[in-house]
Amino acid sequence: MAQGTSLYTMLSHVATVLFLALHSANALINPILPGWNPDPSIVRVGSDYFIATSTFEYFPGHPIYHSKDLVDWKLIGHALSRPSQLSLLGTPSDAGVWAPGLRYHDGYFYLTSTTRYVYTSEFRLFPRSFYVKTKNIFSNDWSDPVYFDSLGYDADLFWDTNGDVYCTWSGINNAVDKIYGIWQNKIDLATGNSLTPAERIFAGTLPNNSSARPEGPHMYHINGTYYLLIAEGGTDVHHRATIQRGPSPSGPWESNPNNPILFNGADLSNAVQDTGHADIVQGADGRWWGVALGVRPQGHNFSHIQLGRETFLFPVTWSGGWPIFNSGQPMTEHLPSSILPDRSPLAAYTNTFTFTSSSPTLDPSFYFIRTPYKPFHSLTARRGYLRLFGNAYAPGDRDSAALVLRKQTAYEETFEVLLDGFVPRDNLTEAGATVYYGDLLHNDIAVAGGRVEEGEEGSSRYVLVRTIVQAKQVGPWALTTANATMTTVNRYKLATKDAPMRFQIAGNSTSYTLGYAEGTASDFTPLATIDSAALSIAPAGGFFFRGASFGIYNTGNGRPSLVTADFKYWKQTPKQPSFNTTSGDV
Ligand SMILES: *[C@@H]1O[C@H](CO)[C@@H](O)[C@H](O)[C@H]1NC(C)=O
Ligand SMILES: *[C@@H]1O[C@H](CO)[C@@H](O)[C@H](O)[C@H]1NC(C)=O
Ligand SMILES: *[C@@H]1O[C@H](CO)[C@@H](O)[C@H](O)[C@H]1NC(C)=O
Ligand SMILES: *[C@@H]1O[C@H](CO)[C@@H](O)[C@H](O)[C@H]1NC(C)=O
Ligand SMILES: *[C@@H]1O[C@H](CO)[C@@H](O)[C@H](O)[C@H]1NC(C)=O
Ligand SMILES: *[C@@H]1O[C@H](CO)[C@@H](O)[C@H](O)[C@H]1NC(C)=O
Ligand SMILES: *[C@@H]1O[C@H](CO)[C@@H](O)[C@H](O)[C@H]1NC(C)=O
Ligand SMILES: *[C@@H]1O[C@H](CO)[C@@H](O)[C@H](O)[C@H]1NC(C)=O
Repeated sequence: MAQGTSLYTMLSHVATVLFLALHSANALINPILPGWNPDPSIVRVGSDYFIATSTFEYFPGHPIYHSKDLVDWKLIGHALSRPSQLSLLGTPSDAGVWAPGLRYHDGYFYLTSTTRYVYTSEFRLFPRSFYVKTKNIFSNDWSDPVYFDSLGYDADLFWDTNGDVYCTWSGINNAVDKIYGIWQNKIDLATGNSLTPAERIFAGTLPNNSSARPEGPHMYHINGTYYLLIAEGGTDVHHRATIQRGPSPSGPWESNPNNPILFNGADLSNAVQDTGHADIVQGADGRWWGVALGVRPQGHNFSHIQLGRETFLFPVTWSGGWPIFNSGQPMTEHLPSSILPDRSPLAAYTNTFTFTSSSPTLDPSFYFIRTPYKPFHSLTARRGYLRLFGNAYAPGDRDSAALVLRKQTAYEETFEVLLDGFVPRDNLTEAGATVYYGDLLHNDIAVAGGRVEEGEEGSSRYVLVRTIVQAKQVGPWALTTANATMTTVNRYKLATKDAPMRFQIAGNSTSYTLGYAEGTASDFTPLATIDSAALSIAPAGGFFFRGASFGIYNTGNGRPSLVTADFKYWKQTPKQPSFNTTSGDV
């Protein structure tokens, strides 16, 4: 088998090089999961591959993607889809569910996770991680959480050959110094209870200070050797993957002389950056693959990373008992040395909200922000429309607005929706479209009513554009969450009281243009163009862990609203990436 494998690998390398030279189409287009999909964890069962990624304060939590060929991925559901599993109420932006670990053992799929319900500077303790499990990953029905005892995140489950179960996670020495490390103990799987004291098993390969951030551990037992793959350097430009091996799940560790085995930040001109948080898997044919997160700064500018951290795939080979990621080359958008089909994962998405089923459900690619207190949408109240029942919360509130989101999947992508017959009661009644990062960063185009004083209540309509940018620090005082952003709202009077409204948000690599078309108008009137830096940089005191989504909403801006908003369709039209497949190097 050994010789067979290496001969096969060698032959396939030769074949790939030849093929690239002749035709150069036999490759893979990354990211395989376009749009924000950070912290991928991958597992294979038989001929099926599954990937889980992070969702933060979005609900449901942790999408599960399925593929049989590693090229075509389909979203099959979410691990956390009930309030008993994930009750995000008032959870701050970028808290919520962090990195998952997806594993399979003895007939069950296990997903480890960590929910940061609270995430403010005065609350310095880490949360407890947990796992959920299911026998049928296609059922979209996972158990309630089983909590571990220790404090930390990025938990990984590992079954040793003797039946011992290890939990390995990223923890800190104490809540004051915050020196990060990889911690571990043995657990009773059924209860999550600790069987042994938590011990720090690895401090990482970087200098021991608070920016080293060893995290994202994954444990493997390969050919009788234990491997500990981790992420280091924090999730920005210093982010990397390193691997160590040892004689037991707890070490002692021998560091790979070629560490880091993935680090695009060594050259900031690489198109993909912030690479790390990897996981590896062996295919049924014996070949190995890895997944990791990365960002694609547009024009090499980190102010234009509005799609956030996406999931990339690369081949893994072995030499001297150490894995080599992507032939030792930086991770790329187009993999010339891969032998997977060259097929873009991008497709136009149209949802006309028409169903034959009597109890239709929303496509799983739609998300809510935090856990809805109760359903605020209906696909049956008015057939052929997605109806949103407005509540008192708006997209700018740290709560659960009547907001439906879907990830932006390409930097150049146009989003269009039609809002039918929305008759606002007053200037607080508002429904429309948004390009949304979080409650502090979003840009909206909507319909709202007129003002009482002007005798316009219930009679006039305005199209409203709300843009939000990061505030600049002025003077000696620090910006706070309350003044970290600046909001501008402009209103333009509409001609009709109830004609349908189409909204369009057109994204290119560096900006978004927000426009509308009233009634039968065929052309969109652009009202604002915003620099996508407004969706790529965290406001003061915040984080940037996700990426942009498109959304529709209906709000009473602080008051309950009885005015429903009916959306007739949702269209996302991405522009396909244009790679130079002649040269092969992109
Ligand atoms: C495991 O050992 C076999 C036999 O020596 C070898 O062929 C194979 O490449 C090894 N696999 C890894 C991942 O090192
Ligand atoms: C790292 O620094 C912390 C705090 O100074 C110390 O407690 C710890 O022992 C150090 N770890 C290593 C591996 O040097
Ligand atoms: C940690 O050490 C690295 C390497 O010496 C250095 O670049 C970085 O600034 C240090 N971080 C902190 C928080 O001291
Ligand atoms: C990067 O983009 C930001 C936001 O548009 C801009 O202010 C900055 O000048 C750009 N940097 C470079 C080097 O072009
Ligand atoms: C709505 O109108 C009221 C007066 O009727 C005014 O006080 C308020 O500022 C307006 N709100 C918005 C968001 O325009
Ligand atoms: C932000 O708020 C703080 C605290 O209220 C204040 O001291 C500071 O001046 C404000 N900064 C700006 C730019 O408004
Ligand atoms: C993106 O669109 C804006 C606004 O229309 C335009 O100024 C800019 O040149 C465009 N950028 C690219 C890379 O096409
Ligand atoms: C694509 O790459 C080939 C080979 O390096 C080069 O000759 C050609 O000019 C490139 N085409 C474009 C459009 O950049």
